[in-house]
Amino acid sequence: MITRNFFLFLAKNDFIKNKATKWGPKFGAKSVIAGESLQEAMDTVRKLNEKGLSATVDHLGEFVYDKEEAMAAAEYCIRTLEAIEEAGVDCNLSLKLTQLGLDVDKELCLNNMRSILAKAKQYGNFVRIDMEDYSHLEPTLDILMELRKEYDNVGTAIQGYLYRAGQDVDTLKGTNIRLIKGAYNEPPEVAYQDAKEVYDNYLSIIKRHMLNGSYAAVATHDHNIIAEVKKFAEENGIGKDQFEFQMLYGFRSEMQEEIAREGYKMRVYTPFGNDWYGFFMRRLAERPQNITFAFRGLLSK
Ligand code: FDA
Repeated sequence: MITRNFFLFLAKNDFIKNKATKWGPKFGAKSVIAGESLQEAMDTVRKLNEKGLSATVDHLGEFVYDKEEAMAAAEYCIRTLEAIEEAGVDCNLSLKLTQLGLDVDKELCLNNMRSILAKAKQYGNFVRIDMEDYSHLEPTLDILMELRKEYDNVGTAIQGYLYRAGQDVDTLKGTNIRLIKGAYNEPPEVAYQDAKEVYDNYLSIIKRHMLNGSYAAVATHDHNIIAEVKKFAEENGIGKDQFEFQMLYGFRSEMQEEIAREGYKMRVYTPFGNDWYGFFMRRLAERPQNITFAFRGLLSK
């Protein structure tokens, strides 16, 4: 689809990214990003908690190619965990390995993760490794396996658009996995292209992971998937403490609260920081209607 590819192209365009980042989160990005500072993020999380919603915060950033920058990003993750602890909020941390130096040096990235996980462990908190594009899948799984030898408070995300997703879910049996459709532009050699096929494979990996007896974080705005998962859990005697739903901050907020009221754990992925550009472009790529956010934001300036 032209719109999707266009926004995914923009997501990786450094020239436009640099310009846009200087403007700050305008054009609607504001409605899906919880501010630029840690303080703003904590204020947002507190408000979500008051509505019965859990959160996971993500200090936006990805594709770092510099050692110092990767170490600074790790430091910021540790500060974020400290802020969560100080604020006493119901919130964990999501991060991307390319932000922590995966493309610079795998050992550097691993050590950054070890420092972050040690701090999270100290606070009894959990860290989620977001899944990035296909070229980073194997290195991400390698790092996760290495970390899981020392830490049980870490998990990753598996993308239902990938043919191999089912096998990966089995390999990660017993771990807390976020299950998603997948947000990147992947070729037919590795990923389903057809929306119905993505839907079917996505639903099948969710069921597979739940039947494996492992904790599932079902991250989707798709009401059909949500309805299927609720029904499947009931039919198979899978308790509400065995899975949670996740949605992005600013998306289907009413539905988020409704799901929480029904007694399910509903976690809101709450991104913050000034590196919002790639994240925002991927959201526009997913759903052209999200562009209305952008125009609303533009008109309110
Ligand atoms: P999709 O966008 O396919 O929508 C399905 C249907 O739901 C639509 O046709 C419409 O009917 C309805 N709908 C969707 N959005 C709506 C809205 N805003 N308002 C009204 N109706 C709406 N990706 C990745 O590659 N790596 C990752 O680590 C993550 N992490 C992640 C965390 C969380 C919490 C979420 C929610 C998503 C991710 N993703 C991700 C993104 C994910 O892979 C996927 O690209 C998006 O969630 C879009 O797919 P959906 O399943 O949400 O439904």
